[in-house]
Amino acid sequence: MEIRVVPKSITELEADALIVNLFDGVSSPSGATGDVDRALGGAITDLIQSGEIKGKLGEVTVVHTLGRIPARRVLVAGLGKAEAFDLEKVRVVSAAAVRKARDLGAAHVASIVHGAGIGKLDHKQAAAAVVEGTLLGLYTFKEYQKRGEEDKEVREFTLVEIDAGKARAMADAARVGRIFAEGTNLARDLGNEPPNQLTPSALADRAAKVAEELGLECEVLDAEAMGRLGMGALLGVAQGSAEPPKMAVIKYQGHPGGKETLALVGKGITFDTGGISLKPGQGMEEMKFDMCGAASVVGAMRIIGQLKPKINVLGVIPTAENMPGGKAQRPGDIVRAMNGKTIEIDNTDAEGRLILADAICYARKLGATRIVDIATLTGACVVALGHVASGVVANNDDLAEQVLAAGKASGEKFWRLPAYDEYKKQIKSDYADLKNTGGRPAGAITAGLFLAEFAEETPWAHLDIAGTANELAEVAWQPNKGASGIPARTLARLALSLAERV
Ligand code: BES
Ligand code: MN
Ligand code: ZN
Repeated sequence: MEIRVVPKSITELEADALIVNLFDGVSSPSGATGDVDRALGGAITDLIQSGEIKGKLGEVTVVHTLGRIPARRVLVAGLGKAEAFDLEKVRVVSAAAVRKARDLGAAHVASIVHGAGIGKLDHKQAAAAVVEGTLLGLYTFKEYQKRGEEDKEVREFTLVEIDAGKARAMADAARVGRIFAEGTNLARDLGNEPPNQLTPSALADRAAKVAEELGLECEVLDAEAMGRLGMGALLGVAQGSAEPPKMAVIKYQGHPGGKETLALVGKGITFDTGGISLKPGQGMEEMKFDMCGAASVVGAMRIIGQLKPKINVLGVIPTAENMPGGKAQRPGDIVRAMNGKTIEIDNTDAEGRLILADAICYARKLGATRIVDIATLTGACVVALGHVASGVVANNDDLAEQVLAAGKASGEKFWRLPAYDEYKKQIKSDYADLKNTGGRPAGAITAGLFLAEFAEETPWAHLDIAGTANELAEVAWQPNKGASGIPARTLARLALSLAERV
């Protein structure tokens, strides 16, 4: 899609649909919306008075212009209450409005920058948020469907800003918004791929391809290399599948010689049957999304590789398929992870923490000074936080705060769970150093504490996205179905914010 910022008067702009806005409770529009209203002979004011336009968040009202201005239609997008307005509302409003425009068949959509005028937000951040929300909202996954006549597409998107200086700054910001959205949409694409296509080898190949496009180094470990490194936990998970495991590492060197290296480690189980501790059949198809942590890392690395912050970042992607084959591991097996710790396999369905254990060890070996892992790890996290927020478990308050702040700035919700020492006894084993399940109580926390045993002294935060990777609670920038791309934007923003501190 082509995106431009034009320094023009809104009433002179040609487009199939022109998006303006209105706060909840405003009876006579001002600013750009006021200009359009006057050019239309007060049509918007009339609709407010008749109660058809209220300005509620997400409301989009179509007004036909009948030749009074060059734009064929005007879409009035509700901004909600002025007190609650922020950049996240800008994304939501932009997504809702452009979807409506697309449904109407508009190929060229123009918009004012919500929040840049009356909303009093920073005009650059507002422009980035409009583009981000627009591209996230328009996302579809049609890889395996014939394109129909009815598939409508927005081809051109124009932002209008009368002030030429501001418009220039907004063009740079629009590029940033585009990069954030495209990285997220890449993560969504990977998540939505069917598990027969996106095998561990295919996922590693996709990661390598993204690295190559960005001019970044990428290392892919095969099973043999993993064996040499002592990755017994990861190999144990993979052994029940005919598909060999892989570990892809994308290396971004934004600060050569710098002493900070952030590692993003994403769970890449391309399909989780549960293994010998087999899952029930109902809903098992959703377990193709068990690689969404890995997908978010690939997406974030793409954003980071394009925006080039001054920090070193490793994208670590351990990937395997959890199958109940004749060579599959059993409950009762004991495996040894790369750091030498032994693990009793209590349940083969607690496989995510096993592949992450070795990946976290490997990130430390590569020199990571901060580690963030991302995983669709536990049903318990879905019970605790639903499909609204992702869970956070961390061994370091500073890193946890940074993650929460980056999440807030991205409009992706996180909630930190307690990680008291008392929980640790639940993952003690009678036969090994640890066991891979902690029982029903506090399942999301004990899973996190299991991972903490492999992060050891390195500052580390774990993001459990089991409830948010694909069944996110309704928000306009998220498609009704499929992968959300969460938390690719938060991860990239975290890298940017850490870079600012050095
Ligand atoms: N991939 C699942 C977690 C999951 C559940 C993700 C629901 C998305 C939706 C994970 O591998 C798993 O099976 N976890 C088990 C752990 C248990 C055996 C300790 C779980 O949560 O039931
Ligand atoms: Mn599982
Ligand atoms: Zn899993």
